[in-house]
Amino acid sequence: MTFDTKAFRQALGAFPTGVAVVIAADGPHPTGITANSFTSVSLDPPLVLWCLAKDSQRYDIFAGAPGFTISILGAEHREVSARLARPGEHRLDGLPLIKTALGPPALAEALAVFECRHHDSKDGGDHTILIGEVVRFLRREGEPLVFHGGRYGALSAI
Ligand SMILES: Cc1cc2nc3c(=O)[nH]c(=O)nc-3n(C[C@H](O)[C@H](O)[C@H](O)COP(=O)(O)O)c2cc1C
Repeated sequence: MTFDTKAFRQALGAFPTGVAVVIAADGPHPTGITANSFTSVSLDPPLVLWCLAKDSQRYDIFAGAPGFTISILGAEHREVSARLARPGEHRLDGLPLIKTALGPPALAEALAVFECRHHDSKDGGDHTILIGEVVRFLRREGEPLVFHGGRYGALSAI
């Protein structure tokens, strides 16, 4: 059977998502990646997941991390999202960060932050599903950044 991957990707893009930045420690350097695959999984225990492409240059850092933070981006964070989605663009220099007890920092201006301990990994085809146990979280009010049909938007602008 032939499968039109491009059309499949476009159909998946019909589902609007928020945008997150996942941060893990790479030795002394924190490393970030833009991800819209973030999903809540379980309230008790508190679990979330995101999916990491197996061909990411940052694969080993994230797949092997004992913990990671997830920062939910606001509508004003398009540039941050675009920057951390560029291949090889992983450093967080110049971005306002907050420290976490877990190790990797989080984005200071995020709408929500989830500090996660690695819980489990599952094979997901060309991605690995990384499940984290949330050990701490914080939240602030704001307009979320939205990704839909391959483009950024905000809730009021869609
Ligand atoms: C809005 C958006 C969402 C993305 N979501 C994911 C994701 O959930 N998982 C993932 O592995 N890559 C995702 N990417 C791609 C990565 O951010 C990055 O571009 C890709 O990993 C290539 O860079 P790398 O090889 O240096 O990691 C997303 C990109 C964008 C723009």
